[in-house]
Amino acid sequence: MNPIVTPYKDQSTSKKEQVATMFNNIAPKYDFLNQLLSMGIHKGWRRKAVNMLKEVKPKNILDIATGTGDFAIEAMKLNPDKVVGVDISEGMLKFGVEKINKLGLQNKIELKLGDSESLPFSDNSFDAITVGFGVRNFENLEKGINDIYRVLNRNGMVAILEFSKPRKFPIKQFYNFYFKVITPMVGKIFSKDSSAYTYLPESVNAFPDGEDFLSVLRKAGFKDTKAIPVTFGIASIYIAKK
Ligand SMILES: C[S@@+](CC[C@H](N)C(=O)[O-])C[C@H]1O[C@@H](n2cnc3c(N)ncnc32)[C@H](O)[C@@H]1O
Repeated sequence: MNPIVTPYKDQSTSKKEQVATMFNNIAPKYDFLNQLLSMGIHKGWRRKAVNMLKEVKPKNILDIATGTGDFAIEAMKLNPDKVVGVDISEGMLKFGVEKINKLGLQNKIELKLGDSESLPFSDNSFDAITVGFGVRNFENLEKGINDIYRVLNRNGMVAILEFSKPRKFPIKQFYNFYFKVITPMVGKIFSKDSSAYTYLPESVNAFPDGEDFLSVLRKAGFKDTKAIPVTFGIASIYIAKK
């Protein structure tokens, strides 16, 4: 069992509370830093993940840990009737709602407060579910994955995008340097939360990636599980069906 990694060292609050506080703090700079630190690569990863959901022709899509709504917006390419995004950070959702309004997508995408571990939806509600860089932040990973399974329709599909750990030389060494030195430094300069960008490499390190994550999915009942590493394994797209 991996240790629980929290953004702050304060032991009187839960990981969930700390994660919500951290994302509220960094929300104004989240999109900017995402673009800067990933050099724009993150957009292609979401595009690829959304393309993999085409085969189920989803009409109702749920984007968990939607943050500022990028995955929910990308999912519009699947021509759904409706996309719902949930997140525990009001700060992130506020910026997401602004973005969606600017794009004129407010009739198609609805963002609301919601916890992945206790989703405010009935069983079998969605044809497809996306999660972008969210699962690593869950307080209880298995509980979150079980609830994703519960609200997904039979034969529905999930696409989960998350950082993973490249294992090969020299990508592994470069990635460790970039994530452990550059990312916290840039994050500290631009965001108001100096812990947030040290929490990032720590939480990636503690996350059970690759085959270990597929085991978590299978334990929850998912079938046809697949891990697709992207950009030398810096991140992976996990695909599974109910
Ligand atoms: C790194 S951001 C990712 C945002 C967006 N999905 C993206 O691809 O850019 C992670 C998000 O997960 C949310 N989150 C963490 N734990 C959550 C939970 N238990 N339920 C819902 N959202 C959660 C955070 O509030 C944050 O907005």
